[in-house]
Amino acid sequence: MAKTKKSFKTLLFSFFVIYGLNVNVAIAQDGALLFKQNCSACHSIGGGKLVGPDLKGITKKRTKEWLTKFIISSTNLIKSGDPDAIAIYKEYNNSPMKDFPLTQEEISKILDYIGAGKSGNEKLDPKKLAEQHFADSILKGENIKDILIGKDLFYGQRRFENAGASCASCHNASYSGKEQGGKLAKDLTNAFKRLGGYAGIKGILSNPPYPSMTETYKNNTLTEPEMAYLQLFFKSSDMKNKNGPQKSCNIMIIIGSILTIIFAIVISFLWRKRKKQNVNATIYKRQRKYSI
Ligand code: HEC
Ligand code: HEC
Repeated sequence: MAKTKKSFKTLLFSFFVIYGLNVNVAIAQDGALLFKQNCSACHSIGGGKLVGPDLKGITKKRTKEWLTKFIISSTNLIKSGDPDAIAIYKEYNNSPMKDFPLTQEEISKILDYIGAGKSGNEKLDPKKLAEQHFADSILKGENIKDILIGKDLFYGQRRFENAGASCASCHNASYSGKEQGGKLAKDLTNAFKRLGGYAGIKGILSNPPYPSMTETYKNNTLTEPEMAYLQLFFKSSDMKNKNGPQKSCNIMIIIGSILTIIFAIVISFLWRKRKKQNVNATIYKRQRKYSI
């Protein structure tokens, strides 16, 4: 009897240990996932600056209270006159981080994950590593041939390896002025400057924070070299079009306007003719009246 009681206790104990371990693992995974979904497009943990600052060590530098306020609404914190928030805002060209409607619990998990100091970059397999080296060499080369590959990828004249949709189905980016892309999403002609160079663009391409883009490339990820070609393309579209996107000379609009002008001339001509005829007709009538 006593033996069964003891083994029951052991069972109960081991159950709680295993359960507890599982919960801990789940929490850690949650934090990683939440970070990946919400933050990793703009922040790394120890991998350097992207659109926003590297967050490694941030949980030691700032209080949890401050970080929570900042993540929920950095703009409110800036408005309240917080000197640290204002300093970081100024350092990043006065571009505030958007507000995140996360719960206290979710923010805690993210901060725990950041605090654990994970690099955020999972171990790379050799194939990935080789791809990354190739991508680096593309960026360093700044070859015109590679810029044009980027342009072709953007405009769908060259297919993505994993069959993702062309960027031009949603975006425009002027290069020589002849191209015309989509108007569903932001114009990307000056995205290079707006997003702070290669790193900003890479952050968005490797992990798009916008739902429609995430959906589009979720199962059709871009390869490292493809991202590099696009990065080069954005740099040169920005350099070639410092004053913003070029207005497209849409041939249909030109033909349409010419036809409208011709139509207007014809109408007014006919109108005048009809009016003249009317005047003549009245005079003729009047003359007949008097001549009788
Ligand atoms: C679209 C880009 C973007 C996303 C996504 C983003 N951030 Fe930021 N973040 C920024 C920028 C830019 C700054 C610096 C400028 C500022 O907001 O003051 C910043 C600043 C910060 C800072 C202040 C760092 C410091 O030195 O005090 C923290 C903390 C932070 N972000 C955490 C997060 C967390 C956590 C998430 C995910 C929930 C996140 N950010 C998502 C762009 C982003
Ligand atoms: C299904 C439509 C869609 C496709 C396809 C798409 N995007 Fe986007 N993209 C968006 C939306 C929506 C946004 C959010 C900004 C906005 O509202 O315009 C965005 C934002 C961006 C931004 C950030 C712009 C900024 O200045 O903040 C970049 C960079 C970008 N996309 C690059 C690309 C590239 C490169 C491709 C092709 C590999 C691509 N996108 C394909 C819909 C799309």
